[in-house]
Formats: sequence, structure tokens, C-alpha cells
Amino acid sequence: MTRASLLTGIGELVTFDPVHDGPLGIVHDAALLSVDGRIAWTGPAGDAPHADADEVRDAGGAAVLPGFVDSHTHLVFAGDRSGEFEARMAGRPYSAGGIRSTVAATRAASDDRLRNHIDRFSAELRAQGTTTFEVKSGYGLTVNDEERSLRLAREVTAETTFLGAHVIPPEFADDPDGYVDLVTGPMLDACAPHARWIDVFCETGAFDPDQSRRILTAGAARGLGLRLHASQLGPGDGIALAVELGAAAVDHCTYPTERDIELLAGSDTVAGLLPGVEFSTRHPYPDARRLIDAGVRVALASDCNPGSSFTSSMAFCIAVAVRDMGMTVGEALRAATLGGAESLRRDDVGHLRVGARADYVVLDAPSSVHLAYRPGVPLVSRTVVGGV
Ligand code: NIG
Ligand code: FE
Repeated sequence: MTRASLLTGIGELVTFDPVHDGPLGIVHDAALLSVDGRIAWTGPAGDAPHADADEVRDAGGAAVLPGFVDSHTHLVFAGDRSGEFEARMAGRPYSAGGIRSTVAATRAASDDRLRNHIDRFSAELRAQGTTTFEVKSGYGLTVNDEERSLRLAREVTAETTFLGAHVIPPEFADDPDGYVDLVTGPMLDACAPHARWIDVFCETGAFDPDQSRRILTAGAARGLGLRLHASQLGPGDGIALAVELGAAAVDHCTYPTERDIELLAGSDTVAGLLPGVEFSTRHPYPDARRLIDAGVRVALASDCNPGSSFTSSMAFCIAVAVRDMGMTVGEALRAATLGGAESLRRDDVGHLRVGARADYVVLDAPSSVHLAYRPGVPLVSRTVVGGV
């Protein structure tokens, strides 16, 4: 049975639809019609097709925007690393090695415990306006633990990423290439059926460019899309590798070189910026202004994980991006919605054009500027997924 729902009385509607005003496709005093979970019409409230609606609701002047698309999270984990954060804030530097403590806790956790964590953090994301999110494995690092991480992640999202190449696990400390053989062989065999993407942490202390290339090429041969973690802790070859291999995304990009920026600008690879990481590691924020001015497509994502960025709030990322990364409010809103969708190569989310999924956020505020203007305030009053 068809179900048509009209939301009217929207103070400011951000659609990213070029038929409406400006780069954000904004309509003031707007209405939105969704039919069977898809956007069927948006425009001025005065022109709303009331006759087509089975139900009508009034947003009371609130701002409405597309649901956030968080293209980078690590929700499958157990354990707590607040002590590591506390030590960092007292001056100790961040190191990729901390990942191993979460690996030990994750391996020791039962399926039910992991599922419980994933459900809790998925609910946390949704309550804060995120309607599409990616989830990576990467805290199991055995065939069985990576496989179950992805199997459990699949219960909450289609955007699952195999990150067996997060770090070299302790049992392979003396045989890193043996671990790469495992990742590209039996682990990939077990994980590929549950994954859409493959990712590698290409960084000093994790995987070098040759190892990264081997892993990504093996994943591509199995039909997985490519993503990378690169240039998080210092400059490296990961961004160039991402562009060369046609990766959908290269995330972090905190230390890109001039050449990296040129390569990105001439490519379809989206640079994922993760301000929660710099907040929590005291590294400098990535210079989004420089990337955008050079023509690089950017996404904002939470990187929600217990080590480097334990936030699930896209609104927090928007506020930091505007305050400290040189992004305008409009650019940050775009990067957190449409940019995330581009990073995941999805055209059905991240905007409210006719035909898109009816995934949107109703704010307890008259305009979406408030997301940056009122940092730390829970402004999402309703998250609608597929019209519900
Ligand atoms: O995206 N960079 C590598 N992986 C995570 C950090 C994971 C951790 O410290 O546990 C990240 O920042
Ligand atoms: Fe990450």
C-alpha cells in the first residue's frame, strides 16, 4: 500500500537540489512530501500537494536537512581506552600501537557483547541525525574475528569495510609479510562476502605502500571498493596510492603534500576529513580550505573509534570544521551529507532531491547554521529514516 506523508511548516529546508536556491538548494517556509520512503516533492509550503498526502505534520518552523552520511566509523570493538586519552591530554603522543589493546579486548568479547556495543553506538549515531553510516572491522585481526566483526556490522549497515590491515597483530610482529599473506588470502576469503569495501591503514607503524597496494589490489580483484587511511600522522605515499588505484575515499589527509592535493583534485577520490581525530590527538586540524580551493571533494566523518576519536556526533565535526578548518557552514553541511554519500559512492542519500531516500533530520532550531553556532547542544529533535 502506498504511504504518502507531508511535512509542512519547515522554516528552512536544505535539499542540495539544483532546482532550488543556491549551492545548498534551500527553500524557506517549505514542505516535503515522501511516498513509500522516497522524496516525491519539495518546495514552498504554499504550493504543497496536500491532496496527495495520507498524513500531514507540521514542523513548527524547524530547519530540516538530509540525514548525515558518516563514511568512516569503527563501531565493532570492546574495551575502554579513556586512560590513553587522559594521558594524551597530559602530553603523551598518540601512537597507532594503541589499536592493539582494543584488539585484545575485542577478541575476548562474545558475539552478544559486540552486538550490544554495535547496537548502542548505532542508536547513538541515529539519535544525532546520522541516517547512513559505514562500519569497519579491524579490531579482530584473525580470520574468525574479522569475519564475525563484519557479519555483526552487516546487521546494522550495508556499508561494511574489511580492515584486516589496521595494524600488524602482535603474533605477526616478526613476520609482517606473513600477515599480509593472511589478509590477502584466507582472511579476505572469509570477509569478502560480508563487505562492500576494503581499507588499509597506510602509515608509518602500520602498512607500507607496497603492502597496502597488495592488499587493496587483492580486495579489488574480489569486487570490493577501495578506501584508505592515509597521511594521518605525517606525510606519506597513501594519498597518491589511493588516487592511482581509483579509491573511492582516502581518509584523514591531515598532512597532504602539494602533489597529493593536485592528484586528489584531478581524481574522483574523496578526501575524508575526521576532525574528531585531531581534537583527540592534538594534531593540527586538516586544512579543508586549501583542499576545497584546489578543487578536492571532501567529506566529513566521525571516525568513531575508542582510540583516536570517540565521538559519534556529526554536528560536533561540523562545528569544528567551521571553527578551525576554514570551511563555511554550507561547505561543512555539504561535506557531512552529500560529501559522505560521494565517499560511499551512493546517489540515493545525502540530499533531498526527488527520488532520494526520505532520510532527513528535523532540528530544534530555525536554521541549519545552528549546528555550528550552538556547539555541543543536542539540536536533532527527530531523525527520519526511509520516511519513518
Ligand atoms: O582511523 N588510523 C587508524 N585507525 C583509527 C584509530 C584506531 C585506534 O586508535 O584504535 C583511526 O584513527
Ligand atoms: Fe579510522
